[in-house]
Amino acid sequence: MKTFRRIGVLTSGGDAPGMNAAIRAVVRSALSCGVEVMGIYRGYSGLIKGDIRPLALRDVSNIVNKGGTILYSDRCPEFKTEEGMAQAVETCHRFGIDGIIAIGGDGTFRGATDLTAHGIPCIGIPGTIDNDIASTDNTIGFDTAMNTVIEMVDRLRDTCESHARCSVIEVMGRGAGDIALYTGIATGATAIVIPEVETDVEAIIKKIENSRRLGKRNFIILVSEGVGSKFGPELTELVEERTGIESRFTRLGHVIRGGNPSLRDRFLASRMGVYAVDRLLEGLSNIVVCDIGDNLTHFEINYALILDRMCKGKLKEGDLDNFTPEQITQMEEIVRAKKAKMTRLYYTADRIDL
Ligand code: ADP
Ligand code: F6P
Repeated sequence: MKTFRRIGVLTSGGDAPGMNAAIRAVVRSALSCGVEVMGIYRGYSGLIKGDIRPLALRDVSNIVNKGGTILYSDRCPEFKTEEGMAQAVETCHRFGIDGIIAIGGDGTFRGATDLTAHGIPCIGIPGTIDNDIASTDNTIGFDTAMNTVIEMVDRLRDTCESHARCSVIEVMGRGAGDIALYTGIATGATAIVIPEVETDVEAIIKKIENSRRLGKRNFIILVSEGVGSKFGPELTELVEERTGIESRFTRLGHVIRGGNPSLRDRFLASRMGVYAVDRLLEGLSNIVVCDIGDNLTHFEINYALILDRMCKGKLKEGDLDNFTPEQITQMEEIVRAKKAKMTRLYYTADRIDL
């Protein structure tokens, strides 16, 4: 079995609150096993360029509570090329890096699986506010981002109530409606618009009018960015035109990517960091750490990526060729359960937000 003397840790793709807690857990748990840790800066860009420094015990002090990532992040198209990959492998050999823990989203995992295929064992930790990795219940950063959303929406509600207005609020999430759906429920939004459930604009207008008749003065509509950047502004105009209620559009944007991580994100990140190091040192690689029903487990990266495609209805020909019928059934079951949960939550919101 491969012996690990030195491993690398990097953060890549969109940053997420809690990434620092994961870095800290990786560093501390590896050091406790006698394994050195190199911090790879700016994701795969730093791996290609050799922007790498050792991380000692005290280098990760006082970061468990900090947003962003001390290792910085980047999007690195060069890493997808053969030359970029060859340079990255050469850097690993030069710095004596025997394996890498890559914290990020699905793009980061694609990079990690390629790197593993080129002889550098990698393990992925899901760090993204979007919660769009179907193989795990929660990704690092999701909880904090949602807490920021509810704080912002509560503020918007105050001013909506004073002016008897409607606030249409767009939140990030890429193609996933999780942030909008959960925060819509938690803030008592009158309507929620997500890509996973077809939107009935007429029903939204009727609901607003009905709620107004029942004495409501403020109206919150949570829109996920996954339905397109024009949807929110257009809906705002339509609500005003059709109901006569003054309406304002707010895009929360990157505000929800920053800030100190919540308890849940620090907790999840700390556990995932230790779990990833343990699996890497045991000899596992090409896996992504997942949180299912509050227990940590792992899946092959390729399994997790194809599961995501299945979830988005974007399977390509041949995608399922390398999986057993049992695995395909399991994937279909996970997708069904995730869809059912989203639909159930959507209609839960609809029944109580009047
Ligand atoms: P996220 O990890 O949050 O999904 P990105 O999709 O931007 O973010 O991916 C982060 C980085 O991972 C990219 O900039 C690139 O360096 C690497 N990456 C993404 N897709 C691939 C791929 N198909 N093959 C190799 N590397 C990839
Ligand atoms: O994946 C995280 C995320 O914040 C998405 O919610 C959003 O669509 C995207 O990244 C924004 O990317 P950028 O930071 O490159 O503008």
